[in-house]
Amino acid sequence: MKEKITESVSYIRKFYQDTPRIGVVLGSGLGVFQERVENPVVLSYTDIPHFTTSTATGHAGKLVFGQVQGQNVMVMSGRFHYYEGYSLQDVVYPIRVMGEMGVKILMVTNAAGGVNKAFQVGDLMVIEDHINMIGSSPLVGREALDFGQRFIDMSTTYTPHLRELAKSVGKKHNLELREGVYVATHGPNYETPAEIRMMRVMGADAVGMSTAPEAIAARQLGMEILGISCITNMAAGVTDQPLSEEEVFDTANKTKMVFMNLFEGIIAEIS
Ligand code: HPA
Repeated sequence: MKEKITESVSYIRKFYQDTPRIGVVLGSGLGVFQERVENPVVLSYTDIPHFTTSTATGHAGKLVFGQVQGQNVMVMSGRFHYYEGYSLQDVVYPIRVMGEMGVKILMVTNAAGGVNKAFQVGDLMVIEDHINMIGSSPLVGREALDFGQRFIDMSTTYTPHLRELAKSVGKKHNLELREGVYVATHGPNYETPAEIRMMRVMGADAVGMSTAPEAIAARQLGMEILGISCITNMAAGVTDQPLSEEEVFDTANKTKMVFMNLFEGIIAEIS
């Protein structure tokens, strides 16, 4: 795995020689953020040795390097999900490439269902913590030892000062950001109302099918992490309405400008 990563990075280095301090993972329908990258160097996943390709709709499959607000960034437009049939090691491969490129701060976004009944469709939630219900970890196996410790501490996965920064930038943008616990499921089916009731009892505020594996791999690499969920729909059973992919994309689409401005504002203030 380590050699594969080195080969991926050598390929990228032919096109981009700077050190990206910030890595950004764009969730469902939020890929447009790549338009905010100045002097972009765009590489297709299909051209990078050992990179898998994203089969999920709304996920472009491009790495974009450049600057946002004067900061060097590496943006993943399109992520890999466990439900696509990849192993969790494949899912976090790009995070490990980010680590090798020099990324120190991971900013990760996702579309999520609102488990907390006080939430509204279109809300943005700063991830305070996660519950990994995918049933496995990207750190399983010997190969993961190439990237750090096996028994890593997860007591502060989502970096407190970045969460505070996100909330203060949100205030400047007149956004009342929510904060809460994200549950990651393996999907791809949405949850049953009984599962959502269980998650609420467990302390969950939002549910989605990503992010936790990436956060685990990033923690192992010692990165700081900021996660933001776009509440694209209320989770199963919260309202009478059935869940649909259309609603998820429709809300992500409506919220993307607000999301992008917030994200850019946060990057501007990361010192
Ligand atoms: N459940 C799981 N994943 C999701 C949801 C949901 O309600 N909305 C967007 N991604």
